[in-house]
Amino acid sequence: MLVVRQLMNSFSLHQPTRLFFGDDQDEAFATASASLGKTALLLLGGGSMIRLGYADRLTKAFTAKGVKVTRFQGIEPNPQAVTINKAAAQAKADGVDFIIALGGGSVMDAAKGIAILLHEKADDIWPYCLGESKGGQYSGAAPVVCIPTTAATASEITMFAVISHAADKGKSVLAADCIKPHVSWLNPAFTTTVNATTTADGGADILSHVLEDYLTGGNASPLADMHSEAVMRTVIETLPKALADLTNVDHRAQLLWASNLALNGYHLAGRTGGAFPMHAMEHALSGWMPDLAHGRGLASIFPAYFRWLHQEGRSHERLARLGRILFGVMESDDSIAALRFIERFSGWLRDNGLLQSLASLGFNTADYPAIAAYSARVYGENGAISAAGPLNAAGIVAIYEATAHNA
Ligand code: NZQ
Ligand code: ZN
Repeated sequence: MLVVRQLMNSFSLHQPTRLFFGDDQDEAFATASASLGKTALLLLGGGSMIRLGYADRLTKAFTAKGVKVTRFQGIEPNPQAVTINKAAAQAKADGVDFIIALGGGSVMDAAKGIAILLHEKADDIWPYCLGESKGGQYSGAAPVVCIPTTAATASEITMFAVISHAADKGKSVLAADCIKPHVSWLNPAFTTTVNATTTADGGADILSHVLEDYLTGGNASPLADMHSEAVMRTVIETLPKALADLTNVDHRAQLLWASNLALNGYHLAGRTGGAFPMHAMEHALSGWMPDLAHGRGLASIFPAYFRWLHQEGRSHERLARLGRILFGVMESDDSIAALRFIERFSGWLRDNGLLQSLASLGFNTADYPAIAAYSARVYGENGAISAAGPLNAAGIVAIYEATAHNA
């Protein structure tokens, strides 16, 4: 099929985060961060960073630069606003100037939430999230520096923080330039201790970040397409190797760098995008069920969402192209090639332990309308999220239901 290419779109790109990559960057990272203040909060998750000795390693590097390091441990996966509020209260009492986030996306996102509370002199982060009473009404944030310990979210470079609120089963976002980290240290060695399940979840998250705009963002930017395809190819090829050899630092390095490239803004430059329908559907799910890992929720949505796009006659050319590029699909007809891609990709998910139905993850089908309504309200406009055209709550329910085919 002949595709008429649109002209590349105008864009603005501001990427202020200084990055360090590699196992020997302790001193360089601490030196680049030390100018941010005299007292720092080292923010930690459930304890693995202490157990593995990474927390002490960071403390030593910063102490050597004259920075006083205090600690807060206890940020949970899918970080809860109440925990972020508690950590922020401690940070205020300790006179913290900046935050060092050592952990996965949950810890990094919590650090961004704390940073806003410090700047705003406020005590509850939830009202500042999208769709809530003071959504987006903040004017700055204390500085944050990050050490990602999963290859997944790219929070170490993004303008986003994803915050959960168990009291109303909500999961929403902070999105602002002021929460982009000042400095980040990507050390693949730190990620060699991530277990197989969380490694696979992270792989699904990386894929989703480039898939979102690749599928629905038009064809105005061939470079953005190739950037996205390179990230996808890296994950498709490397994740199985990493799962077979969890401590292999080279595989971990490929995944960690891919995770950063997947959401650093360059993947989007020149095309339309930013709608993120799979994220809108998934955040509502893991908000409803905080034990659900973000990447796992995304993985169960992938095939159902792709089939929905196909049925609606949307993105055939894009799905077909992925089949040809990633899986060597030969069919020349885009509609058929698109279906072959969905089959082959589902097989890849199954091989990597990522293909499951929402029911098998513990969801009750009777709850789908309420979860879909949340997704459409918080992440949509006029009752629908955007997916190369509107996707309303009924459509979201249909996609949740169609995950039953994964079982
Ligand atoms: O809590 P600890 O003890 O640190 O253990 C964690 C946690 O149990 C463990 N872990 C992390 N690094 C480890 C490790 N265990 C051993 N060795 C290591 N090196 O892994 C578990 C999961 O951690 P978590 O931070 O929850 O995972 P992930 O990095 O996938 O982050 C998920 C969160 O990020 C949000 C998600 O919605 C979710 O809340 N996202 C953030 C984005 C952003 N800020 O731009 C974008 C993403 O699309 C995503 O929505
Ligand atoms: Zn994601």
